[in-house]
Amino acid sequence: MVKICKASLKYASGDGLDRISLEVRSGEFVYLVGPTGAGKSSVLKMIYMDALPSEGYVTVGGYDSRDISDNEIPFVRRKIGIVFQDFKLLEDRDVFENVAFALRVTGARRKDIKRKTLRALGEVSLPHKSRKMPHELSGGEQQRVAIARAIVNDPFILLADEPTGNLDPKTTIQIMNILDRLSTRGTAILMATHNYELVNSSVKRVVSIKNGTTLN
Ligand SMILES: Nc1ncnc2c1ncn2[C@@H]1O[C@H](COP(=O)(O)OP(=O)(O)OP(=O)(O)O)[C@@H](O)[C@H]1O
Ligand SMILES: [Mg+2]
Repeated sequence: MVKICKASLKYASGDGLDRISLEVRSGEFVYLVGPTGAGKSSVLKMIYMDALPSEGYVTVGGYDSRDISDNEIPFVRRKIGIVFQDFKLLEDRDVFENVAFALRVTGARRKDIKRKTLRALGEVSLPHKSRKMPHELSGGEQQRVAIARAIVNDPFILLADEPTGNLDPKTTIQIMNILDRLSTRGTAILMATHNYELVNSSVKRVVSIKNGTTLN
């Protein structure tokens, strides 16, 4: 479903990824761990086709980095959800609009936008906060909105870049429970994290990365 095969990515600085290989199957939950600067975010960026490899390839759904056109990139991104450590909500729109926005850009019908947005907010137990602005929410709630936005288009994979990095342990567990539930329902999850405590206490698959290369 998502396959990275011997892919390299070189930044102008000389850093980047060196012949990374990684496969994530449907519904699988994978932790991507490694020290700062190892290349975790770069791997997610490559899957999101935000950066294309200079060698090797990435396939996501039916798309292949070797022959994808610029016009197709928005379509592959619709099949991928993404969340970040700092939530990245639109501060001038309420919760409902933050989630609905991801559907509006696809040209979805108004009725479907409402139904799908409320369903996604239901998944993160936040329908009652629909009309709140992001600054009126706690960090954990903001991250739940970001997750709702990421899943509203029914992605087959959710990329999470340090999603609990700004959250306390209790809120971290809440977020992890939401991600676990999504993965048991078939959404693959690839989560970059520094939280070794979380990783060590779990039975999920762990992929380690160091100096731009996967170790296992
Ligand atoms: N846009 C960029 N331009 C130049 N160099 C970059 C760019 N993005 C990342 N790098 C470099 O590539 C390497 C990998 O960075 P990346 O952000 O993927 O690491 P990371 O594992 O996500 O780190 P962290 O845990 O700190 O988030 C680092 O050396 C970084 O400085
Ligand atoms: Mg990173």
